[in-house]
Amino acid sequence: MAGPRESIHGQWSSRWVFILAATGSAIGLGNIWRFPYITGENGGGAFVLIYLLCVAAVGIPIMMAETLIGRRGRRSPINSMRSLAEEEGLSSNWRYLGWLGVAAGFLILSFYSVVAGWSVAYIFYVGGGVFADATVEASGAQFEALTGSAWRLLGWHSLFMVMTAFVVARGVQGGLEKAAKWLMPALFVLLIVIVAYAIATGDIGGAISYLFEPDFSEVTGASVMAALGQAFFSLSLGMGAIMIYGSYLPADSSIPRTIGAVAVCDTFVAMLAGLAIFPLVFGFGLEPGSGPGLVFVTLTIAFGHMPAGQLFGALFFVLLTVAAWTSAISLLEPVVAWLVESFRWSRRRASAFAGFGAWLLGVGSLLSFNHWSDVELMGRNFFSWCEFLSTTAMLPAGGLLIAIFAGWRMARGSTVDELGIGDGILYSTWRLLVQVVAPIGVIAIFLNALGVFG
Ligand code: PFF
Repeated sequence: MAGPRESIHGQWSSRWVFILAATGSAIGLGNIWRFPYITGENGGGAFVLIYLLCVAAVGIPIMMAETLIGRRGRRSPINSMRSLAEEEGLSSNWRYLGWLGVAAGFLILSFYSVVAGWSVAYIFYVGGGVFADATVEASGAQFEALTGSAWRLLGWHSLFMVMTAFVVARGVQGGLEKAAKWLMPALFVLLIVIVAYAIATGDIGGAISYLFEPDFSEVTGASVMAALGQAFFSLSLGMGAIMIYGSYLPADSSIPRTIGAVAVCDTFVAMLAGLAIFPLVFGFGLEPGSGPGLVFVTLTIAFGHMPAGQLFGALFFVLLTVAAWTSAISLLEPVVAWLVESFRWSRRRASAFAGFGAWLLGVGSLLSFNHWSDVELMGRNFFSWCEFLSTTAMLPAGGLLIAIFAGWRMARGSTVDELGIGDGILYSTWRLLVQVVAPIGVIAIFLNALGVFG
């Protein structure tokens, strides 16, 4: 038997709103900040091709599994896992999978907000003309002046967390849905404006050959694993975000079609972000493989020398901030839904409490860039532990367990019923992917993290 037809938190007004909201969760720092620099570090086109394969073979099937679990459970990830396990006659220990997701989301939110805070700061820096005619050294020094100051970081981090908690406090229809409906169209328009600007002023030919002409000589086992890890992070998988968004999905919407749309949009935006950034980077003869500083240090130099770069540069960081905002909302929502369900708190109280907790944890991360930069445990500081634990360990573990739960433990009939595509070839393909391909892929991520692939 399926769970209650509607969550106590409400539901999306339509399947389209789910697509907007889930796309909002998926498109974030991962697409616009992380994807371009990871592609840069892994040699370009061949990495892009492997990434696409990972999205199709592992990402989409797991995303469908996560959505179907959420919609069948109709509660926060912890309570959905608990009630589904009970319904399916399985061990109640499966609820820990819900816990894992909620905890990972909370942990990610804490440092995600710190990085998103940099983006908010850069709207003002770039818009205020700080980078006019900047040299490579000046741009690097500007970034260090920001990350070196705990107080500045604290201010931006706090602002971003308040923005996030504010939306979540307003509920599913009054907060999350409204944010998705306003912010996502704005995001697409901004992205198109910036790509057009990059094409008009930068080296688009160089960017296209860099992104789309594969050179497999640069591909290593480690870059294949980086592609898979990036696919997980970018699609918001394994963390309860897509599960809780699925729990607000109307019962009659087709999961495969809906999820297909979300994954295509997410991937498309990652590619467009590449087409916004690399033409400018190449147009100035700058280095594409410069790592996490790519948009903050390298791209800003390009903006500093372009006609109207001050305006378009500021718009770029507005775009990055909006993208991060809709993702952060989806990271806070699972914890808040759980607090509301468990303690009957009001949403406002639950959002303030959870937002404050994530903010506090984030303070540890922001100190890692200055006062605590040398405080290390086994070679990692606080920030890098949070990032490592959540994205390299908890996220693939969550994904693996979700694949096992939906592929091996849930009754075949339940998944056929919930996916709504009948029991034909499409269903069998999905099942094969979650049962075999996705688990193998995820185990490979783990082995890579342990250094097996060098
Ligand atoms: N998908 C987001 C990004 O690409 O930036 C990050 C993220 C959001 C990961 C929500 C996980 C999550 F639950």
